[in-house]
Amino acid sequence: MSNSSFFRKKSIDQILKDIHTNEISDSHGLVKNLNVRDLTFLGIAAIIGASIFSAIGQASANGGPAVSLLFVFTAVSCMFTAFCYARFAATVPISGSAYTYAYTSFGEIIAWILGWNLLLEYAISNVAVAISWSKYFVDLLEGLGVHVPDYITMDYLSAARYHKMASEAVAEGKTFESLSVNLRDGFTAWETAPQLFGIHFIANLPALIITVLITYLVYIGIKESKNTNNILVVLKLLVIALVVGVGAFYVKVDNWSPFAPNGISGVLKSVAAVCFAYIGFDSVSTTAEECKNPQRDIPRAMMYALIICTTLYVLVTLVLTGIVPSHHLTGVEDPLAFMFHMVGLNGVAGIVAASAVIALTSALLVYQLGQPRIWMTMARDGLLPQAFARVHKKYKTPSFATIMTGVLVGIPALFANLEEVINLSSIGTLFAFLLVCGGVLVLDLDPENQAKSKFKIPYINARFITGGLLIIVMVFLKIFSAGSYDWFFANISGGEDFGNAFLMLCFLIIWALISFWSYTRSLSLIPVLGLIVNLYLMTQMGTTNWQRFIIWCAVGFAIYFGYSYRKSKLAVNS
Ligand code: ALA
Repeated sequence: MSNSSFFRKKSIDQILKDIHTNEISDSHGLVKNLNVRDLTFLGIAAIIGASIFSAIGQASANGGPAVSLLFVFTAVSCMFTAFCYARFAATVPISGSAYTYAYTSFGEIIAWILGWNLLLEYAISNVAVAISWSKYFVDLLEGLGVHVPDYITMDYLSAARYHKMASEAVAEGKTFESLSVNLRDGFTAWETAPQLFGIHFIANLPALIITVLITYLVYIGIKESKNTNNILVVLKLLVIALVVGVGAFYVKVDNWSPFAPNGISGVLKSVAAVCFAYIGFDSVSTTAEECKNPQRDIPRAMMYALIICTTLYVLVTLVLTGIVPSHHLTGVEDPLAFMFHMVGLNGVAGIVAASAVIALTSALLVYQLGQPRIWMTMARDGLLPQAFARVHKKYKTPSFATIMTGVLVGIPALFANLEEVINLSSIGTLFAFLLVCGGVLVLDLDPENQAKSKFKIPYINARFITGGLLIIVMVFLKIFSAGSYDWFFANISGGEDFGNAFLMLCFLIIWALISFWSYTRSLSLIPVLGLIVNLYLMTQMGTTNWQRFIIWCAVGFAIYFGYSYRKSKLAVNS
């Protein structure tokens, strides 16, 4: 491979050598003391965040109780992906995670774009966690009798939307008091906000403040020790147990019917939120250098964390939609506290809000720690300016990268809307998952690479299964959902929903290509299924998200060609 190629690769041997040289200096002295329980807890710490405390509200509003099934489906896709992460983590045990994996399998340009998308997974998802934190914090203050003006606790876009919706509802004859809390708060925020040249000053100040504080902690070297992390995870699990345990007594089974009030399309509207809920299970792989037995424990821990979190997500969704009719959850950003207020258990709502604030703080910390370390790895490879690799002399943390992460999370947290952030973060993360599954297939084409890994993904020959599944799905849809064919043909020929039909067409073509490849190369089934399911979930994100995602990737490529391609160590050393 020429070193002037965009697809130049880092060899596995070179990476393993780097781990033992000064190239990756901070891996020196790392203590291998994480066992499977610590790793599982780390996974849970990263997974459980804004989704269960916030996004589950809007997701249930869209899809109703059936969203619980979407949680199960998405968990299965994450399990396929988890095998692929484990396979890589056992081969290249290094903190760059998926970025490094792509460097060894696909080459530099794909590694770059993956690293660029990890920004969505870590930093941008943290914007959502900060927004969620803010909502619960403000609730907590309200519970203590402290009122914070609405215009400094929400984002501009939501306030503008809710103001418009509330005004329309009142114009139609509804009373202001009969409107939902969100509409009333949004209306009040808009009306009371100070204005400058006609622009309303509306921003989420608590989200900025918590980001600044966490960034400061991360900067001065507070490292989440496994014991602190374990305690916080236990707290998170206790709050959720409380929600499910107490909530179960207030469930009205009638609220589960209809199970999918807005049909399959309503459930699929929640794909982004549900995928977002699983973001973080892969962060376990970044600890590969600190595990006692990474080959055995990383795959197990990922699976345990996924199974535990899926169970909790399903239970919480069922309790939430069993207590609150799902249409009441539109725009509710603190659904767990909201549900207890609704049944008059204000004390429990207060406990949930207080615990959520602590639980979400730990999620913020995990991601705020992860992002600078990925940047540091990329800067060491020359793809980012060296400032990103700078380690603070006294605090021993990636100083510049940490501050940049703070800016990148804090500023959008002031203005961003929870749903938009979650959508962007989810599509970028699914793309990373997709590349990791594809990367395993590419890596394993070389039998030498297979021999180098101590962790083997159970091999099932996908030769006939991939294509066979495609045919079964098409026949199943034809028999049981002929309407999907009608929808497809009506829209692909220039109908209103052309964008989504086009995404579906691309998905089917890619599935057919993977079937062909499975047949000719006898590919391994688990990564193939991971690839197909992640791709399917991406197609369900809708055209607006795809447009944003494409713009995001275009900016990434522009930076690569303008800077990283020339500065890459692989180019400089050639
Ligand atoms: N999975 C994480 C959350 O739900 C990102 O907040």
